[in-house]
This record gives sequence, structure tokens and C-alpha cells, in this order.
Amino acid sequence: MCRRSSVSGVHTDSPTSSKDERFLLGALSPQVGSSQVWVPAMRLRVVGAVLLSAVAYYVYLPLPSGVSEPWKLMLLDALFRGFMQAGNMAQALGFCHHVHLLNRMVSFVEDVQPLSSAATLVTDSLLGGVNTRVFVPKGGRKLKRGVIYFHGGGWALGSARMRSYDLLCRKMSEELDAVVMSVDYRLAPEAVFPDQYDDVLVAARAFLSADVLQRYGIDPERTCVSGDSAGGNLAAAVAQTLGSDHSLKHKFKVQALIYPVLQALDFNTASYQQNRVVPILYRRTMAHFWLLYLGADLSLEPVLLSNNHSSLDEPGIDAGARSKLSWSALVPPEHRKHFQPVVRQTGTPGVVEAVPALMDVRAAPLLADAQVLTRTPKAYVMTCEFDVLRDDGMMYVRRLRESGVAVTNDHYEDGFHGCMVFANLPMMSSVGRRSMNGYIRWLDHNL
Ligand SMILES: *[C@@H]1O[C@H](CO)[C@@H](O)[C@H](O)[C@H]1NC(C)=O
Repeated sequence: MCRRSSVSGVHTDSPTSSKDERFLLGALSPQVGSSQVWVPAMRLRVVGAVLLSAVAYYVYLPLPSGVSEPWKLMLLDALFRGFMQAGNMAQALGFCHHVHLLNRMVSFVEDVQPLSSAATLVTDSLLGGVNTRVFVPKGGRKLKRGVIYFHGGGWALGSARMRSYDLLCRKMSEELDAVVMSVDYRLAPEAVFPDQYDDVLVAARAFLSADVLQRYGIDPERTCVSGDSAGGNLAAAVAQTLGSDHSLKHKFKVQALIYPVLQALDFNTASYQQNRVVPILYRRTMAHFWLLYLGADLSLEPVLLSNNHSSLDEPGIDAGARSKLSWSALVPPEHRKHFQPVVRQTGTPGVVEAVPALMDVRAAPLLADAQVLTRTPKAYVMTCEFDVLRDDGMMYVRRLRESGVAVTNDHYEDGFHGCMVFANLPMMSSVGRRSMNGYIRWLDHNL
């Protein structure tokens, strides 16, 4: 039985019905049987019970044991799924692009004004011409730390104006005595690669310019580039580009990548296999976001999911590139578990030629050469066990270390994709709070 159907656009894998689900529905079924019950009242009870069952059915999702607070995650996922399905419906009916509706709904629920507090001055400004929310501590040291932050959302969703990111950046600014600049780069589908990358690169160059450092009282020796998910992808790409730019006077001291997306050649890493239907980032959703970002034909999704685009007979991918994302060698065995690589001898020819950005290091930072990685700053990489992107992060950790970069890998055994940024939702607490505190603690010790 398929519980997930979508008309077009963002899809989710369909988990098959499980015994657990039937058990749950059984437990919620109305107790009908007494013949003397007043009939309309009974009908009301039946209707109520059916509605309740329907809601429970929509929210309920079999989750792997060990994930932090599964019911809270299910609720979050149901909310997301509801948004996505509404978006897909609107697109199918010809109202608008599903991403637009999704963004409108998210900003309706989440956008907040730049409100200053007793501790922090908050303004919406421009950084190198790119919209940016800026958080400046009112007190503290004269010379401050500086953080440039890129939000997540699959290069298509999200904004620095969202409450979640506003709260995260505020907290960083207060606890680290740091000037934090949260960049609103352009989004897909209007903007496609390399637009997002170009925006954050221009903003990062402006951030490191003598003019901006001086104006905001930022210590040029204590700057950080950071981001989560797609923002972690952009932060890694910027750290590589600027690390190798010998014309720069000031460079980033550290890079902090939160469950980053780093490659699009293998959608069957151990973590993609293990977590293909774990909320909130499904395997199919990630493939869809990649295609949107790279401006590619969205119908290529099944090709990507089967690794047909990176089959061994694809001339555009050499052995060197393959070794950089060989997870069976790069990811520790306790995480690889029993999963086997999915390698196609022959696949769907011509995808890399049609979508050359698949091989572009600015889109897929895991493909960078060791001599580029060597020049990137000290790193923090957060990974979560219940995240399709876990192995993207773990492979990068290993490759950075092999290139001589000092790396801290905070791995959350009960973490899921997005947990840190959702820490401020009322229904989220444990792993979200722990991961956010761990991240800020690392910055406090290393920035
Ligand atoms: C993958 O490639 C194989 C071999 O060329 C082909 O038979 C199969 O249909 C392809 N699958 C998809 C999803 O394109």
C-alpha cells in the first residue's frame, strides 16, 4: 500500500505498510457493539474515531529505533509533508511552482522582522550587494569574532528571515560575542547553479574585506564560514575557493559544516540506503533538490536514484573522481554496516554531459583535489546517524584529515537531518539542543 503519493515535484519514497501501523489503527478503532446506544451519538463517535485514525495514519511513520524523540519527529514530518503535498497540488492545478507555494507557506509561518534586543542589534542589510541579516553584539569586546552563515533548504527553500535561523544567529552572536551575517542568497528554481554559489562567494569576499571588517569591528584573525545542509555545501565550496585565493589579505580561521550536502554522483551510500525514508529529508527529495539546483531535467530523478548517471562506462567520471567518494573505503565500518555499494556497469548514457555541474567542485565540494582541501581552514563537521547525508559528511571528514586539515566530527547517534535548526521549535528539544550547544561550544573554543 502506498501512503505517499505526489502529483509532481517533491516526492517522498513510499514506505510499505507495517504491522506497527495496523496495530496503531486497531488500537484507535471505535468500540462499536452495544445495540442500545443512542444512534446519532454513536455515529458522532464513529466519525470522530475515523477522523482521529486518519490523522494518526497521516502522522504515523515507522522510524528506526534509536532516533531522538520519534513522535516529535513524526509531527514535524507530517507538517512538512502537508506543506509539500499542498505545493505539489497547487503546481498540478497550474496555480504556481510547488517551490514558490512552499516558500510562501514557510515564510508565512516562520518569517520574523529584524528586531533588536537588549544584547543584539539586528538589521537587514546588503553584503556585497546580497541581502543579509546582520547581528551585532551591543556590548562585549571591542574587536569581535565574525561568522558568515548560509541557511539550508535544498538551495530552493528557506531564508535568513526565518525564525529558526534568526534565533540561531542571535544565540551565536550573544554567546560568542560575534558579528553574525546570515546571507539570503538567490533560490531555485529562478536561480540555478552557480547563482547560489556566486551570491555567497560575493558576500563572503565582502565579509572579509578590510572595509567591512573595520566597519563592524571584526577581528580579521577570528572569522568563520558556516552553514547547514545546502548551506553547508555552499560554506564548504566557499572555504575551498577562498582557501586557494592567494590574493586575499584575510582568510577564514575556521569552517563549520552542519550535516552538509557534498556530492551528487552516489545516491546509494550506506546512509542514503539506511535512511531513504527517514524524515525529514527523504532520498528522493534530496535527488529532486539536486536536479533543481543544477538546472537539470527533473525527470532524471529515477536515473540518479539508481546511480545510472555514474555508471562505470560513463567517460566523464575518471577513477580519481570515483575514489573521492568511495564510501566503502572512506566511511568507518561501524557506520557502513551491512550495506553494499550500488555500482552500475552500464547505466543511462549522457547525463554527465548534459549536466556537467555534477562534476563541478563548486557544486560538489567532495570532488576537490587534496591540494585544494589542504588549503582550507580548520574544520567542524556535524553528522547525524539518521540522515541520508551522513556519509557525505563522513567522507569529507576523512578526506580533510588525509589532507592535513584538523577536523572535529560531532556525530549524533540519535540525530536526524535538520535537528539543529529545528531545536527552537516548541516540539523539538533533546538532540536539537545538544547539537546546537555542541556547535557553539566548538566555535567558542576554536574561533
Ligand atoms: C538504468 O540503466 C539500465 C541499463 O542501461 C537500464 O536498463 C535501466 O532502465 C536504467 N534505469 C533507469 C531508472 O533509468
